[in-house]
This record gives sequence, structure tokens and C-alpha cells, in this order.
Amino acid sequence: MTTPLELHDIALEIATEAGELARRRRGEGVSIAASKSTIADIVTEADREVEALIRDRLAQARPEDGFLGEESGDAGGTSGVTWIVDPIDGTVNYAFGMPSYAVSIAAVEGSVHPGEWRALAGVVHAPALGETFRAAAGEGAWLGEERLAVTEHTPAGALIATGLGYDQSTHAGDLEVLSRVMPLARDIRRIGAASLDLAFVAAGRLDGYFERGLQPWDLAAGRLLVDEAGGRTGWFEPDEHGRALTIVAGPELYEQLRVRILG
Ligand code: IPD
Ligand code: CA
Repeated sequence: MTTPLELHDIALEIATEAGELARRRRGEGVSIAASKSTIADIVTEADREVEALIRDRLAQARPEDGFLGEESGDAGGTSGVTWIVDPIDGTVNYAFGMPSYAVSIAAVEGSVHPGEWRALAGVVHAPALGETFRAAAGEGAWLGEERLAVTEHTPAGALIATGLGYDQSTHAGDLEVLSRVMPLARDIRRIGAASLDLAFVAAGRLDGYFERGLQPWDLAAGRLLVDEAGGRTGWFEPDEHGRALTIVAGPELYEQLRVRILG
């Protein structure tokens, strides 16, 4: 049987190669390939090329596993393991020349529904930041050789990240929720890449993070990082716009966020 650490090693090697490709393509200039859910929700040629590379490498290394990628869809497997991949998370940052983008690769067992899978391994590799966050189930979360831990107390208020997504019709409601959260906050961050929001909570760089509308590939690797760093992670069923809610933080702040967001 394959161990989570073996899956972690595969994810790490492929994410590193994929990150080099993304970074090289960024240096050559970005071309927008299409818009997706809204005109602001873009995909670049590099997203597609990087996902194709990851898919190809995984097919060579793990031909019996399933695959679910943001850009190229899904394929079933026979092993019970599925790879969930965001080739470039933070595509808008990438297109605008901001360094906060990441390759996110996770291996999960069971369903590909975030409320049901068991995450086995996850890597969030940010090539322009020169940082690779990684975790295997039961083995902790790591940045290089540093073991990660979430923050536990926020006496001066919490540094909280969130995201607003690409659909303007949901922004007013999200800002209203944010106003309810503000009494907990020392300040707010909007990083623009959910995988990095999650990795930064795992690393104690953020105290907490919440967002509606994340997809499996945005969070599969990052949520394992938070779990393995001692945090709490919640996935709540979709609102009237079909957007599930993700909340992650240390245990104390998690509960405070949950109450303020959901009432
Ligand atoms: C997006 C980013 C962003 C979040 C969006 C995601 P993408 O992913 O993670 O921070 O607010 O909901 O879709 O499109 O850059 O891969
Ligand atoms: Ca993406």
C-alpha cells in the first residue's frame, strides 16, 4: 500500500517542475486564453499548459489514480486515490505580475467532495515567492525543514484573510459578512490565492481565513496543511448562490468566526 509520505514526495517533485514552468512562462509574458464563470474569472495559456504537464507526470507515476483538475476536468481511477490539482491558483495575480500565485497538488482518498474526502498529501508551491508548503496525513505540515503550527491566541485581534470571488452580484453580501467579522480583526488581508491563504494560516502568518465559493482544487492541499498544523477547518454547505463556505483558523478563533459568519 502507498503511504501518504510517498504521495507527498510525488506531489512535491511534480509541483516543483510545474512551478518552474509557470514561472518561466510568466517571464515570457502572459496571454489570457479565455474567461470562465465571469469576465473577471480568467484562464491563461500557462494554466492549461501547467495542468497538462502535471496530469501527464501523474499519469506516468500513478496510472491507476483518479484526477480532478481546474482546467481539464476529471478522470476516474481504480486505486481509490484522486489527485486534485490547481495548476495556477491566483491566476489574476499571475496575470498582473503579482508573486502570490501557487501550484496546488493534493492526493485524497474517497469522494472528491471536500466534505467527504480524506486528504493524504498536499503541496502548495509558490515559485515566485520561493516557498513550498507541504504536508502528509499524520506527518505534520512543513515549510522547508520548519514544522508549521497555527496561531492559538489573538490578544491584539486576529489577522484575517478572505476572498470575494469574481461574481460582482455577491460582493455586497460578502462585505456585509466581513463587517460582522471586523470586531475580531486587527486587520484584513486579501491575498488572491486561496491555497496561499490556507498555507499562511498553517504557517501562523495569518490567524484565520474564510471565503465562500472555493472549489475542491482551491483548497484540497491547503486544508490538509491547516489540519496538520493543528488548525480547525470547516466546509459548510452552499448558500443561495451555490457557494460553500470555508473557514480555517486555530480552534479558538475558528469558533468565533463560525458564530459571526453563520450566526
Ligand atoms: C481563485 C483564487 C482566489 C479566490 C477565488 C479562486 P484561481 O482561484 O484562489 O483567491 O478568491 O475564489 O477561484 O481562479 O486563481 O485559480
Ligand atoms: Ca487556477
